[in-house]
Amino acid sequence: MSYQIAIDGPAGAGKSTIAKAVAKELSFVYVDTGAMYRAMALLCIRSGVSGADETAVTGLCNGAQVEITYIDGAQAVILNGENVNPFIRTQEVGDMASTISVYKGVRDKLVKLQQELGTKENVVMDGRDIASAVLPNANLKVYLDADVKVRAKRRYDELKAKGQEADLAVIEQEVKDRDYRDMHRENSPLVRVPEAVLVDSSNMTIKEVTDKIIELANDNGIPRH
Ligand code: DC
Repeated sequence: MSYQIAIDGPAGAGKSTIAKAVAKELSFVYVDTGAMYRAMALLCIRSGVSGADETAVTGLCNGAQVEITYIDGAQAVILNGENVNPFIRTQEVGDMASTISVYKGVRDKLVKLQQELGTKENVVMDGRDIASAVLPNANLKVYLDADVKVRAKRRYDELKAKGQEADLAVIEQEVKDRDYRDMHRENSPLVRVPEAVLVDSSNMTIKEVTDKIIELANDNGIPRH
């Protein structure tokens, strides 16, 4: 039997950074489910398919081969034989991922893959529907949140650090739009399930959040490996 830690929350709450650090500490496998939706989004963009066309998007995604592998300990998404990691971290791909993830056909395929990974390995998995749909029996469920202004500022600082132009007000609106879409879709919206522990990272450092989740893991009898 494998151990499962589910971390859900809105864009920019720090899920992937924290989930990665927790996985490292416990020697668990980190599964970034957002990257899988991003890979599908990239496929749609490259194929010129509109995110509004459910039939075309679903058909394209169902015909695609998606695999997860680990290169030097980091997750790589292999889309039709190509490692697409270098192409999926853009704003355009993130927005398209949020748009196409509303479709049941897209979700069913990726959720199945995520569930297979979750039974094979001890995992820390992050996303929007991990506690509610992918790993409903997870040993620990965390809802990682942060104030929208803090999340927008983090994104702004990231872009600035990369030397890119950024407008804080525009970013804040994009973050709000993404939250709205992710929380109000019909299929597996982002929700905090009642048993999830709420961790608000607004005024916490990465180390503080990681330590808090490790403490919760210990309290829930999850061993290190
Ligand atoms: O976490 P992220 O920014 O990489 O996710 C990109 C989009 O993918 C997100 O806006 C919604 C979708 N997503 C999802 O619907 N379910 C998940 N488990 C993970 C991501």
